Amino acid sequence: MSRKFFVGGNWKLNGDKKSLGELMDTMNAAKVDPNVEVVCGAPSIYLDFVRSKLDAKFGVAAQNCYKVAKGAFTGEISPAMIKDCGVNWVILGHSERRHVFGESDELIGQKTAHALESGLGVIACIGEKLDEREGGITEKVVFAQTKVIADNVKDWSKVVLAYEPVWAIGTGKTASPLQAQEVHDKLRAWLKANVSEAVANSVRIIYGGSVTGGTCKELASQKDVDGFLVGGASLKPEFIEILNAKA
Ligand code: PGA
Repeated sequence: MSRKFFVGGNWKLNGDKKSLGELMDTMNAAKVDPNVEVVCGAPSIYLDFVRSKLDAKFGVAAQNCYKVAKGAFTGEISPAMIKDCGVNWVILGHSERRHVFGESDELIGQKTAHALESGLGVIACIGEKLDEREGGITEKVVFAQTKVIADNVKDWSKVVLAYEPVWAIGTGKTASPLQAQEVHDKLRAWLKANVSEAVANSVRIIYGGSVTGGTCKELASQKDVDGFLVGGASLKPEFIEILNAKA
C-alpha cells in the first residue's frame, strides 16, 4: 500500500513574525514535490498568522493542545480553537512535552482522543531516551507509548506516528537509517498484531531527530520511513531539501 510521504516542521518556541514570515515566503515560492504532505508546527500565538500567510497547499499544526474544548484552564488552548484558526493538525506527546513539562502517557492519550474527536489530525510522538536505548528497552518503551495512543484512536487515517528517539532530538546525532528502519519496522509489526493489518500498512510512521538536508535522502529511502518531523532544520531554507527528499 502506498503511503503519502509526510514532512512536519516543528518550529518549537522559535521565530517571530519577521523571521517566520521570511521562512514562509521561501516555502511559498519553492518548488516542492507535489507527492509530499507538508505540515508546519507553529507556536500557538502565531497559528492565525501562519495559516493566513502560508500557501494553502501546506498544512499547519499546533504544537500541543488540551484535552477538553473549553473551561477554566488558564494558559491552555483547545482543538476547537485550533480549528477556528483554520488549522487542522496538532502535535501531541512530543518528548519535550513529556520530559520538560512532565506530561504523562495518560494525559497524552486523553489529548489524542479529544483532538481526534474534534476533527484534528494528530502527529503522535513516541521515542526512547538514551539510557533506555542503552539498557536495551527501546522496544518496550515505544510499544508502551504506542499502546496508550492506540487505545485512544478510532480513526487511524487521521494519525501520523512520529518515532523520535530522544537522544537524537536537537543533538545533531541522527539515528542511522538502519536504526530508524529497525524501530519503524517493529512499530508496524506491533500495529499489525495489536490494531490491524490494514492500519499497519496504511499509517505513516515518520522519523524525527536531527534530520538535515544531508541525512534526509538516505533515511527516506528506508522501506518503513514515511517522512520526517523536523525541528532545527525546519527553520532554515534547508527545509525545502527535506521536503523534496523523495523527489
Ligand atoms: P530536531 O527536532 O530536528 O531539532 O532534532 C526534532 C523534533 O523535536 O521534532
